[in-house]
Amino acid sequence: MEYQELMNRAIEASKNSYSPYSKFAVGACLITETGKIYSGCNFENSSFGLTICAERNAIGSAIADGERRIKSIAIYSPNQKHCYPCGACRQVLNEFKSESGLDVITEGDNELEVAPISFLLPEGFNL
Ligand code: THU
Repeated sequence: MEYQELMNRAIEASKNSYSPYSKFAVGACLITETGKIYSGCNFENSSFGLTICAERNAIGSAIADGERRIKSIAIYSPNQKHCYPCGACRQVLNEFKSESGLDVITEGDNELEVAPISFLLPEGFNL
């Protein structure tokens, strides 16, 4: 699947964001090594610390479906150009990267940018 199609799905997912507190909507869409696709959006809570990021929502769906290796993830927010994953999500993405790594795709001014997770999280923690 093309990166642009993955981004289109991330944009769609951001429309389902439940973010009444921050008003910062985020959508994510990932593709696994086996070619399966999963989307997610952020969802917040009146107990703020319980917020789940869009990326980890999408990753959770992939894991629940038996997938383990993510090839690429597109992330989108209507509120910010090039919405990069937070530190916690970088570590979770690192856990499930594929053999060939994992590309993080962001968008700004209708241009896609591709950054490997190894660049966004150098020396990521692994056991
Ligand atoms: N958020 C994400 O969904 N992904 C990120 O990588 C950064 C932050 C969400 C969490 C919260 O609902 C809102 O953006 C503001 O922090």
